[in-house]
Amino acid sequence: MLLLIPLIVPHGLTVRLAERRDLLPIARLVETSFAVNRRNLESINYISSRPRGWLEEQITTVRVGLDIERRLTPWDWARHAQFVAEDGTGSIVGFCEVWGEDAESLRNESAVTPQPVLFNLCVADSARRRGVAQALMRDCEERCSVWGDAQMYLKVRQDNEAAGKLYEARGWSHLDVDARVVLSSWQERWKGSTAYPINLMSKPLPQELAAPRPAKTFDEFAVNIDTVREYNDPDALIWFALLVVRNSKALSPSYRVVPTVLALVTWAAFYLVIKVASHPEMMMGFQPVVAAAPAAL
Ligand SMILES: *[C@@H]1O[C@H](CO)[C@@H](O)[C@H](O)[C@H]1NC(C)=O
Repeated sequence: MLLLIPLIVPHGLTVRLAERRDLLPIARLVETSFAVNRRNLESINYISSRPRGWLEEQITTVRVGLDIERRLTPWDWARHAQFVAEDGTGSIVGFCEVWGEDAESLRNESAVTPQPVLFNLCVADSARRRGVAQALMRDCEERCSVWGDAQMYLKVRQDNEAAGKLYEARGWSHLDVDARVVLSSWQERWKGSTAYPINLMSKPLPQELAAPRPAKTFDEFAVNIDTVREYNDPDALIWFALLVVRNSKALSPSYRVVPTVLALVTWAAFYLVIKVASHPEMMMGFQPVVAAAPAAL
């Protein structure tokens, strides 16, 4: 981790790596920024056909939070970084992610999303026009240079002209690609539809390494208890537990039986507590058999 030292940028803003304690403010920021029915923002011309209710917004925030949390673990998403921008009062006013490890998409311009890719860049309304997005993008670009990448990518909605102009001013250019996004149904309700046209953009980067690092192999992804010990961080146990709960692909194959075992234990507990405890006569029915057994010997 070469960029752990917080970078001080003008106007009292600090850009640093995201931590677990930042999850809720990040989720709120991302949820509001990409919501289809956000109003009072001339620059972003997202049309709402159906306002979402309060409850739906809360549920979406939780889902967004879980999604971002998954990428906080160092194993699931290893060549990946999430940056937050904090204002002088310690409030999170900006967020951005960068990812580049998927073997099929890494440095592959024919991929649906070539990597490394910058995504989820958002800035709070209260902190606009203060260089927050630029500061976040600079850290993402530096990170990709450290990974040895000469080019990075992003996708932007064609109707989001403000963002398109910001990227152009930062040295990004449009690729002649008819890009599309694939959204799950809950994201489609939140972000609008998948039918809108998307621009794929790229930016050349200064390379710090002589040779680009190869994409990760499956063995590098595989996590077992030794990986946890090597990490030497109390959070490592939480990350590992979360991988097990999610039965993640990142787990060594032998660990993937754990969720099955947990499911069986849950089923057995359910059977004992609900079936047997609520029908004690079932137990009574067994007792004479148990009592009779020694007599039969
Ligand atoms: C690049 O992406 C395309 C489209 O997904 C895929 O068919 C191709 O195999 C990829 N190339 C490499 C080298 O992975």
